[in-house]
Amino acid sequence: MRTYLVTGGAGFIGSNYIHYMFKKYGDDIRIINVDKLTYAGNLENLRDVENRDNYTFVRADICDSEAINKIFDENDIDRVVHFAAESHVDRSIRNPEVFVKTNVLGTLVMLNAAKAAWELEDGTFKADKKFLHVSTDEVYGSLENEGEYFYETTPYDPHSPYSASKASSDMLVKAYMDTYKFPANITNCSNNYGPYQFPEKLIPLIINNALNGRKLPVYGDGKNVRDWLYVEDHAKGIDMVQEQGRLFETYNIGGHNEKQNIEIIHIILDTLNEMLPDEDPRKAHINEELITYVEDRKGHDRRYAIAPDKIKAEIGWYPETMFAEGIKKTIKWYFEHEDWMANVTSGDYQKYYEEMYRK
Ligand code: NAD
Ligand code: TYD
Repeated sequence: MRTYLVTGGAGFIGSNYIHYMFKKYGDDIRIINVDKLTYAGNLENLRDVENRDNYTFVRADICDSEAINKIFDENDIDRVVHFAAESHVDRSIRNPEVFVKTNVLGTLVMLNAAKAAWELEDGTFKADKKFLHVSTDEVYGSLENEGEYFYETTPYDPHSPYSASKASSDMLVKAYMDTYKFPANITNCSNNYGPYQFPEKLIPLIINNALNGRKLPVYGDGKNVRDWLYVEDHAKGIDMVQEQGRLFETYNIGGHNEKQNIEIIHIILDTLNEMLPDEDPRKAHINEELITYVEDRKGHDRRYAIAPDKIKAEIGWYPETMFAEGIKKTIKWYFEHEDWMANVTSGDYQKYYEEMYRK
């Protein structure tokens, strides 16, 4: 049975990945989820897997090498899937330091711990051990012209402290692959959306604000473009890269779902109105009047767009959920999980750990 060490599994993509993996492999794998539970970590995301015999949660900081080495000492880890990071660009502009600590130093700790556990005396590595570093398309910078795309060969050109820290972590993984032949892959993915996304990011923020009749803040002219991928497609891509990809390679994962932010907001408003029953009183305030143009983000990247040609050609992955369908699934999930949103916005979700694990 393969044992996975997932970092950051209490966050948005990590928790979706854990759900996906248990759905796919059931009892044939074991997952250890290590997460510091920052503001972005929410164990409620994992409520329906937490009692499984093949799932373990460890609260630890990835920068704490002692805690991470201990996990490797006590378990025969076969796969590392490294999600843990500070992930919000606006926060990185206000406070870059924690981004460098977690994203750069934390990744170094993870690499060193896996290397120490997996390296043999002759400098080669135990068979069938693999590390996957989850990264972002933001490392490639901003595309200014239509028809241009990010390829795996596109030079790195990060602009925000977030993307600079992720670029640095990618470089460390590359250095370990080149220097030690450390068995790893890197994936660079476009913007994700779906269940369990923290409502500081565009899509859940707009859904939540619209439902509550609050303003919908649009940065700048609203014409910045992001390439949106339904989170389960990302989870599937990560697993396919780790099992079917060539070691030491980078794979871009992306949606072919390019949209301007203002288009996203209109689609959300229309979909909310379409999905809410006529008698729902919230329908009265869900309209374009909520849209509010605000000061632009500093250094705001104009356009991201992934060319997922390599992962499609080599591995057969492609985005299965187009935006029109994915946004309906996402909104339906938020309708069915109003408690989750209420707990996140009130801060109550942070009590869950104390209740579940410190009884
Ligand atoms: P998130 O902010 O929702 O979750 C991050 C998780 O990491 C949280 O559970 C948090 O508690 C944990 N964490 C943070 N610092 C930690 C530390 N020092 N030690 C242990 N755990 C820590 O992020 P997300 O959106 O799920 O993103 C996950 C990964 O995917 C990140 O590496 C991000 O760069 C990458 N990524 C995200 C997107 C996106 O659209 N969200 C797109 C491409 C790549
Ligand atoms: P975000 O979800 O923060 O992801 P990223 O910056 O990593 O792409 O933002 C997506 C886009 O939406 C980005 O162009 C910034 C914009 N945006 C707004 O216009 N208003 C908002 O309130 C937020 C959070 C983002």
